[in-house]
Amino acid sequence: MSLSAIRTWPSSARASAAETMPTPGAEAVYGSPLPVLAPVSMLEAIQTSPLVVDALGLESLADATLARVVIDAPPGTLERRYALAHGLRALAPGGELIALARKDRGGPRLAGELQSFGCTVAEAAKRHHRICRCSRPTAPLGLKAAIAAGGMQRLPALGLWSQPGVFSWNRIDPGSAVLIAQPWRPAGVGADLGCGLGVLSRTVLAAPTVTEVTLIDIDRRAVEAARLNVGDARARFIQHDLRRPPRRPADLDFVVMNPPFHDGGSQDRSLGHAFVDTAVAMLKVGGVLRMVANVALPYESILAARFAEVDQLAQVGGYKLFEARK
Ligand SMILES: C[S@@+](CC[C@H](N)C(=O)[O-])C[C@H]1O[C@@H](n2cnc3c(N)ncnc32)[C@H](O)[C@@H]1O
Repeated sequence: MSLSAIRTWPSSARASAAETMPTPGAEAVYGSPLPVLAPVSMLEAIQTSPLVVDALGLESLADATLARVVIDAPPGTLERRYALAHGLRALAPGGELIALARKDRGGPRLAGELQSFGCTVAEAAKRHHRICRCSRPTAPLGLKAAIAAGGMQRLPALGLWSQPGVFSWNRIDPGSAVLIAQPWRPAGVGADLGCGLGVLSRTVLAAPTVTEVTLIDIDRRAVEAARLNVGDARARFIQHDLRRPPRRPADLDFVVMNPPFHDGGSQDRSLGHAFVDTAVAMLKVGGVLRMVANVALPYESILAARFAEVDQLAQVGGYKLFEARK
């Protein structure tokens, strides 16, 4: 094991609150690069992707300590520059950075972005990807600005904490807005599946009849932002992949969700169906699911098959709102 200290969620994710000192020669990886493009030992390397449950944040790795960083770069510009800047910050002098991305997902921008940090870049193209290699410059440029622009930040217009890369990071999703606008007075114990910034839970917790809500998301940044946004003693927060139902919470009175239908940039309807199955597993008999979905997504048949009663409460601006009772 290449770390002197192992921390699990939530303490590891409190960006820069605590520092982890990798052992000399340690390697970090961000995401899951194809081995044929950038060989990395996924068993030995320190995983730093916010989308991998229990991974350490890149931001928690001490300055100038790593021998090598491999970044399967995310498509959003602010998010990608943030990851590259942290990778360079955490590299020891002379350490190697490899960054790669698909040509249609930011790959052509990688070399220029690394050059803007003062790197001398060798670029290659393979399997629809651009692959850039460089050493850490003696004095990298502009890291602080990229880290500030891509880090956790309060958005005054929304009154919310957020971070580039989180779903709908700088606006309320129009589907979620439909769910929020519909009157509802949930009661008892519930869960917010795929909580994102926590906007659905903020609405749910406005009901004094709610005694507890567990907010769950696979994205560590979303869970951290939701924790800051919700600020309610009735709320609990978990980073978890909901394709596998957690053992807890269970016997719930209600579940609220705006399920995802993209995985890694491609449409994946099975993801939303897995969320429905997880909701069913968590609810008690008679418990209620409220969910919003794009009108183009056919949830009717799976809801009818899994629940005793299903109502469509609204259809507004391309979204449908369902209430289903187990
Ligand atoms: C459509 S967004 C809704 C976010 C938030 N509830 C809102 O209304 O703004 C779906 C959320 O599910 C999360 N998600 C995607 N795949 C997941 C998985 N396998 N397990 C848990 N959460 C997941 C995403 O990170 C995202 O925050």
